[in-house]
Amino acid sequence: MMITISTFTQIVFVVIIEIGMLADSTSLPSTLHSGQTLTTNNSLQAGNLFLTVQSDCNLVAYSNGRPNKVANWATNTNDHGKNCVLLLLQNCNLIVLSDTLRIVWSTKKTSKNGPCDLYLREDAFYIVDSKNILVAKQTLP
Ligand SMILES: *[C@@H]1O[C@H](CO)[C@@H](O)[C@H](O)[C@H]1NC(C)=O
Repeated sequence: MMITISTFTQIVFVVIIEIGMLADSTSLPSTLHSGQTLTTNNSLQAGNLFLTVQSDCNLVAYSNGRPNKVANWATNTNDHGKNCVLLLLQNCNLIVLSDTLRIVWSTKKTSKNGPCDLYLREDAFYIVDSKNILVAKQTLP
């Protein structure tokens, strides 16, 4: 009886570990640190929510499960530049930068306490400075 329970427990653990590995291998990063960029056609992911720098320069949040990938939120900067990237600056300002180094969009929120981190959640992104103070929040309804 002891052996049966032990074997069952081991099987359950193996299944849980494999589900965890599967989730890891299919998830994109959900954070961006100061100095890091998210380049064209790449995404951050939190659950079903993707924050993507589209090739048209629009930064778009969409829920994967929605039909036709209807956008939850966007910067509406489509065609404002080419090969745009999302960049979190040392001062916490989050910018969309074109390949001609033009800032096409930004949160306009800065902190003296950089560097900072952007955390994507399924309903919002948060930018927090090195003292854990919230610098910017954008809901992604
Ligand atoms: C982004 O994806 C589009 C569509 O697949 C493609 O035409 C374009 O070359 C890609 N751009 C980059 C910078 O990867």
